[in-house]
This record gives sequence, C-alpha cells and structure tokens, in this order.
Amino acid sequence: MLSNRRTFLAAGSAAVFTALTPRKGFSATTTSRKLELFPDETIATIRPELHSHFAEHLGSCVYGGLWVGPSSPIPNMNGYRKSAVEYLKALGVPVLRWPGGCFADDYHWREGIGPAAQRPKTVNMHWGQYTEDNSFGTHEFVGLCRLIGAEPYFAGNVGSGAPSELRNWMEYCNYPAGSTLSEERARNGSPEPFNVKYWGVGNELWGCGGNLTGDEYATQFRNFATFLSKIGNAPQPFLIACGPSKDNTEWTQDFFTGMHGKRKMPDGYAMHFYSNSKLPATKFTVEEMAAQFSTFPQLESAILHQRSLIDPFDPQKKVGLMVDEWGVWDRMVPDEEKSHGRLWQQITMRAGVATAMGLNVFHRQADKLVMCNIAQMVNVLDSMLLTSGDKCVRTPSYYAFELAKPLRGKTAIKTDATAETGSDLSVSAGIEGENVVLMAVNPKHDESFTLRCAVKGYSVKSAKARALFHGDMNACNTFEAPDTLMPRDLAVSVNNGEVVLTLPPLSVTSLSGNIVKD
Ligand code: AHR
Repeated sequence: MLSNRRTFLAAGSAAVFTALTPRKGFSATTTSRKLELFPDETIATIRPELHSHFAEHLGSCVYGGLWVGPSSPIPNMNGYRKSAVEYLKALGVPVLRWPGGCFADDYHWREGIGPAAQRPKTVNMHWGQYTEDNSFGTHEFVGLCRLIGAEPYFAGNVGSGAPSELRNWMEYCNYPAGSTLSEERARNGSPEPFNVKYWGVGNELWGCGGNLTGDEYATQFRNFATFLSKIGNAPQPFLIACGPSKDNTEWTQDFFTGMHGKRKMPDGYAMHFYSNSKLPATKFTVEEMAAQFSTFPQLESAILHQRSLIDPFDPQKKVGLMVDEWGVWDRMVPDEEKSHGRLWQQITMRAGVATAMGLNVFHRQADKLVMCNIAQMVNVLDSMLLTSGDKCVRTPSYYAFELAKPLRGKTAIKTDATAETGSDLSVSAGIEGENVVLMAVNPKHDESFTLRCAVKGYSVKSAKARALFHGDMNACNTFEAPDTLMPRDLAVSVNNGEVVLTLPPLSVTSLSGNIVKD
C-alpha cells in the first residue's frame, strides 16, 4: 500500500527528492517503462521560434501587466514592469507577436506613436470596450522586445485597415532614413530602423478579423502582400497569412485555391488551436483534465493534416506552417475577470502539464513547423506570468517552457513513443553532438513511471534531470505563495549505459545526458 507522502530514491544516486502530497483521495502506483531514443533518426532542427509568445491588448496583458507606465509606483524600467522583464529575459523569448489577436484588426498604429500625452484615447472594441491611452505603441513594443531579447512580430490590420496603412507601418519601422515616415520615427526617438521581419496580414479573418471566406481572404492577402516588400537593409519581410481555427479543411483549401498560384504566396501560414475546457482552472476533475489532454493528439494530427492540405499548392514547402495561438483556455470565472481583466485564468499544475504536452508535439513535428506562439504572455489565458499590483508570479506554464528550453536548436530525434496520446507518457527528444535531451511529461495523476532510457547505438555516460511536479492537478502559484510549484532536481542514475529515473504523477521532466557511441 502506498502512502500519500512518497519519497523517490534513484538507485545508485545520493540525490533524493520528496514528492509533494498527491491530491487527497488518490493513491499513486508505479509502472516501469523502457524508452528508446534513436539519434540516427533525425526529424529536423527544433527552431527556437517554436517557443515563441503572444501579447495582446486584452485584459491586463499589456496595460497593467507588461506595461505599468514610467510614473507607476510598481518597480519599472521606463514603464516596463521590472520583474516581468527579468523573468521573460531569463526564459528567453524568441519571437513576440503583438498587438493581437482580434485587437490587431481594429488597431491603427499611428495612434500609438508620438508624445504619449498627445496620443488619442481609443476604445478596445473586442475586449470590453474600455478606453486605452495608447501609451504602449510601436516604440514601446519594440523596446520591450529589445529588453527581453525577442524578435518583434507585428500582426497587421486587414479587417478595418487598408493596404496603405500596413505598408506605411512597415516603412515607418524599416526604412533607414530620408522618407517622411522614417524621419518621423527618428523624431520619435529611433533614428535606427527597427528592421522588423515578421508581419502578420490580419488575424482570424474567418471570425473577428472580418468574417471572410478563405477565398475572399486570399484576394485580400494578395492585395496587401503586393505592397509589403523588402525595405532598405531590413530583412526580407516574412509575411504571415491567417490560417484556420483548429483543423478546418475548407478555410485552407479555399485560401490556397484563391491564391491562384500567385507569386505572393505567404511565408507563414498560421493556424490557431486552443485546448478548451468547460471548468474553471482551479476546479478541474480527473475527467475534465483527461478531456483537455485529449486535445493534444488532435493538435498533432491537425498539424499533419494542415501540412498535407498545403503541400499540393506548395510542393517545395516554402510556406511555413505556424501555430501562432495555442494553449489552455479554461472556463473564465467572472469575479476573477473583474479583478484581473478579461480572459484571466489561474495556471495550475494541470495547465503546466498540458503546455508541456503542446511543446512536445511541436518538437516532434519540428519538420512541419516554423513558429508557435503561446497565448498569452501575461495575465491572459495560458500565461507565463500573473501579476497583481506589484506582485508577479511565474506559472507552471512558464516552467514548462523553461524545462523545454534545452531542446531549442537541437535536432529532434525519434523515440519509440512516437505520437501524443493524451493519456500516456508524452515525450520529445533532441540531440546536439554528444548531448541528448529528453522532455518527458507524465499526464497521470495516479501513476508514476520508472523510466529506463536507452539511446540506440550509444551509451549514456552521465545524466541530470529537473522536474516540475505536484500530485494535485489544481495546485498553483498564488500571489501569497508564489513558489509552490518550481522545478527541482530529480534523481537519476546511469546503469549499463542507460538512464533510470522516476517521473512523479503530473510532472514535466527535462533530462540531459552525455552519450558515447558503442
Ligand atoms: O487569444 C485570445 C483571442 O483568441 C485572440 O484575440 C483571437 O485571435 C483568438 O480568438
């Protein structure tokens, strides 16, 4: 009979950790499993961009979250919340998408430049009809990206904007000097061009972006793209077309048919895939958790299917598939939204596990994807950080990203646990030289796995692991107890060239090993 308080000891290792108490009423069993990694069966480089982010003018993501303003009593760096900048910089944000979301197709960039006091007050139509003072605009966004080391990705306005507006935004950002717009940028504090590479041509044009059909949007895309060319020494703009919600076939077929094989094909094609649930974040049941986890195999097959739909129109695979909005979207609690802003939800251990499962899907499909952006960075949906007043908490999803970080830039390799099932172990692996990295997610609340990892054709010489785990799916970091959930070292042993470790229930583990050829 297993006791509730469990101690995991790894054979042959002095390291010990104590698992946190599993949720009352659950007793965990331990199952032994073998996992084989195949370093010679490579998939593709795991682009760091698969770990990218999204920040929208929605709730308290930007205003009150990332941006508190220079005169705020909250510690800030020229208006940016200091703690958020520090945490995000430490995490590493490859690309940051902004300003929406639905907000993008109602955003007019000129309202967010020039002296802050003179900027107009505008109504955020999509997210509560409150007014914004536009104190966070183009310069502030690029400034944030520079502070945290992210590449900016501007989502342009197609729905209520004109090609000229987006074309002028690009000139304002990227033309080196000498045009009226580039001189205005210089007067506004940036003589150097921003050299923005990523440009979204609208967002969710099938819905909040304009309620178009796929072929209607193709006409719009061709028109807009014609006026979005390389400027000065800026990088060739990477134009991103709006893809489907989830695995919608009709949208993708209609869009690419409507492109008529024109030269102005998109560089990126961005699908959105949320993992919804009927219950509030901290009130999950085992059944609801299983239902949400079951969306990850669906995400994986949607990626494969969407790629197969694009291929006939793009035989050379020049159009990069993206998932530029994804993550858990639970049932909102009205009182929490009132206190913290629209689409605010707690991020629990269950959400961290779900987020890690999504990252594993992307690593395994590294040959199909060029960028993925979690929704969203702060205080909205599957957020990395939650803020309240001067408090700023890192969530389990932040730690899922942190634990996945060693896979960035590695070559993804196959394992014998190939696809996501939603209910069994979820894994992805990568290699670089003699370093092999594994991300293993245990989605079970009542079962731990003692894993024996072998690397085909190689022997593991040494290994170490870190893990985030908690037996309670609804456990979370609160403003009062911000460090309840944090990754910690996990005991591993190396026996006969294999690694042995025990994955606690509801856990995300990052394992790194050094290997030599047999
Ligand atoms: O991320 C929240 C919203 O979800 C975005 O604004 C929109 O693109 C999507 O429907």
